[in-house]
Amino acid sequence: MVMPMFAKIYDGKWDRNALDYLALVDQWHVVIESKEVPEGKPVPITLLGEKIVLWRSEGGQVNAWKDYCAHRGAPLSLGKVQNCKIVCPYHGWHFNDAGKCVHVPAHPDQETPAKSVVQQYRAVEKYGFVWVSIGTPQSDVPRIPRWDDDEYRKVHAGPYFYNANALRCLDNFMDASHFPHVHPGINGRGDEPDTTIHYKVIEKEDELQTTEFTVVQPYADARGIPLSVRYHYYCLSPTVAYSDKQTGPNDHWFTWCALTPVDEDRAIFWLVVSFNYGKDIDEKKIHERQAIVFGEQDRWIVEAQRPFSMPLDISEEMHVTSDRLGVAYRRWVKALGEKKRAEISGGQAVATAA
Ligand code: FES
Ligand SMILES: [Fe+2]
Repeated sequence: MVMPMFAKIYDGKWDRNALDYLALVDQWHVVIESKEVPEGKPVPITLLGEKIVLWRSEGGQVNAWKDYCAHRGAPLSLGKVQNCKIVCPYHGWHFNDAGKCVHVPAHPDQETPAKSVVQQYRAVEKYGFVWVSIGTPQSDVPRIPRWDDDEYRKVHAGPYFYNANALRCLDNFMDASHFPHVHPGINGRGDEPDTTIHYKVIEKEDELQTTEFTVVQPYADARGIPLSVRYHYYCLSPTVAYSDKQTGPNDHWFTWCALTPVDEDRAIFWLVVSFNYGKDIDEKKIHERQAIVFGEQDRWIVEAQRPFSMPLDISEEMHVTSDRLGVAYRRWVKALGEKKRAEISGGQAVATAA
């Protein structure tokens, strides 16, 4: 579809030429749980500073469009969904799921203007979430470990709303050396912090992994028992990662998280845990523990970090051995941002230009 020249609407704070922003443009991002997008009702969300409307067309297909009607700039999310079309709240224009205006109530017999289209983004549904990309993703949405394995029980927790940058949030999730200090009595011993966080980072083409390391946790999982646990981390995209916590010889507790980069200083933390033991663990206990760890303790420290944006230049911070994953993460994000910047300066269209 040839896009017309729209007014340049962008309400976000994030500098769209910044490397951290550019690194996120071509990624898939969780924006909402699928169940929160009912048929027949437009739902507004914000991703990377862009206001977007989600709505379902024929067969429940989810659409993600710029929340903007090119006629007089009304947000389509204030409108309604009728006969598999979205209807603008201002003058009632109807747009079909191809993004084309097919009906102008003031002139029902005239052909609709050629320019009357909306900007569409890619949207898919997987793992109970709606995923949106404002750019051109190079791969499928990141995996949730053991999703198809019936031996693993899965529980969605959160979301938690952070007044913080999404990269700061994910960096915190992948940082085990803060456990005893931010989560004393839960993920670490405040009076006896682990001194053995040594691991290597394995840099794959499109993900980061760590080798195994061990930490002692007073409240290792929702059972509330102390354990020495073995960790591996996997970072699947700049906003998606999981830890594999081995709590017994064959017992695994996976904590998967995805951050919605709402804007430079706002993020939504989505969580799914999957585990192959403790079938009788009360789901309420899981929610309670995750709400303390991620909804309160991590949020408290991450919201206090300065600057809001995570520095991508390694020389701007201090690093020690236990920060290896954080250092590799910064380098990876920076490389993704530089790649995108080179593409743009090479003349390729920027998906976010409108
Ligand atoms: S602003 Fe959308 S129909 Fe007029
Ligand atoms: Fe934490």
